[in-house]
Amino acid sequence: MEFTHLLTNIVADDTLHARWLNTLSMMENTGARKISAAEPKTTVDLLMLKHAAEEARHAYYLKKQIQKLTKTDCPTYEPAYLLAPTDSHAYLNRLDVQVCRYLKTALGLSGAELKYAAYLLVTYAIEVRADELYPVYQEVLTEARSKVNVRSIIVEEEGHLAEMLRQMDTFFGDAWQAHAERAVAIETGLYNAWLDSLMALEKIDAAKAN
Ligand SMILES: [Fe+2]
Ligand SMILES: [Fe+2]
Repeated sequence: MEFTHLLTNIVADDTLHARWLNTLSMMENTGARKISAAEPKTTVDLLMLKHAAEEARHAYYLKKQIQKLTKTDCPTYEPAYLLAPTDSHAYLNRLDVQVCRYLKTALGLSGAELKYAAYLLVTYAIEVRADELYPVYQEVLTEARSKVNVRSIIVEEEGHLAEMLRQMDTFFGDAWQAHAERAVAIETGLYNAWLDSLMALEKIDAAKAN
């Protein structure tokens, strides 16, 4: 089953849709907290502050969208209110761990340098994913004439991707592309596993309905 089809089925069911929005909100919030955690205490710049603030806004905005759906309630990020809770919670942490491992072995980085380089690569890979995922989601929402919309997120994620490209070029120099490709390959593996969990869950729901 392709992603558009999966999303169409999720959007058609308010309960599933609310949990999807809550899941995205939780992942955005994890991203915001990771950016904040990677900030150097005294030398953090405007760009990094902006990025952390915008990811936190995405978490808030997505959660707020749930109110547009009828009879749904996802008060917290506890498993009962998420889709594929285990994989959704683990996605960012696994990405972080695997990118750090790569940076340690490939570049021998450690300490503050490792922290910053990991922030660049992890965030870059997520921005590439966000730039693919949100437009597809918006298309499905438009098609379904849903009151929910994520257009403002799409605009900000496009800005983030451009900013990450500039920062990676400054930090890694000409080698940035090879590192970026590696980070995207790691992310793709984790994303596909996450998607498999979502699809499996939907099959269970379909089986229940029959
Ligand atoms: Fe975001
Ligand atoms: Fe972003």
